[in-house]
Amino acid sequence: MIIAIDGPSGAGKSTLAKRLARELGFTYMDTGALYRALALKVLRQGVDLADDARLAALLGSTAIDLREERGKLVVLMDGQDVAGDIRTPEVSQMASKVSALKSVRARLLELQRDLGKRGSVVAEGRDIGTVVFPAAEVKIFLDASVGERARRRNQELCADGRAAQLAETLREMEERDRRDSERDLAPLCQAADAVRVDSSAVDAEQVAVIVLNLVNQRKARKNYRDRS
Ligand code: DC
Repeated sequence: MIIAIDGPSGAGKSTLAKRLARELGFTYMDTGALYRALALKVLRQGVDLADDARLAALLGSTAIDLREERGKLVVLMDGQDVAGDIRTPEVSQMASKVSALKSVRARLLELQRDLGKRGSVVAEGRDIGTVVFPAAEVKIFLDASVGERARRRNQELCADGRAAQLAETLREMEERDRRDSERDLAPLCQAADAVRVDSSAVDAEQVAVIVLNLVNQRKARKNYRDRS
């Protein structure tokens, strides 16, 4: 079974996806972490995104994988866990930029579909229900107002010891929203058959209850269909 969760940054996708994966015993797939790992390598190697040859060489020589170890997400880039290095504002912006490129999307689409073969998954991202797993049994589009999303992201950054100005976080979030929604390839948008959940005024627990109810309904329907 595949559960697809799409939506803009800061809407609560990770919190929801991790919770569902834990409760249902599914694998958690953070697809944004794949784009972030690649962005980190682009930044570390100083690759110009307009330099097609260098970008192609980087894509061909980079191994990215996701694992879970003792309940924690491990993001492997060339065999090294970079999970602690990919959450900076600089990597967020670069991940958004590299994710608009055709060669990058093609490479990571293949990787995501391979990871999806490992069993039942809860995958979160921008194009999971529309492109990566269009046949997913459950599709959620999790949204929230940009002001609320920026407030949450700012809290996370501060809790991480990275003091940030709310106005700057808001500006960066709006810029990333615009780039992710307006790009030509697999832009952020709600799949026609996705259920939209707005988390602006409800907490993570309430969102999880709404979505778990939906998952249980779909599971029952799938079991019924598989039996008959
Ligand atoms: O979910 P996130 O903030 O970690 O994602 C980082 C960037 O990666 C995001 O700005 C757009 C891109 N992304 C994407 O294009 N498609 C996905 N399925 C996941 C992320």
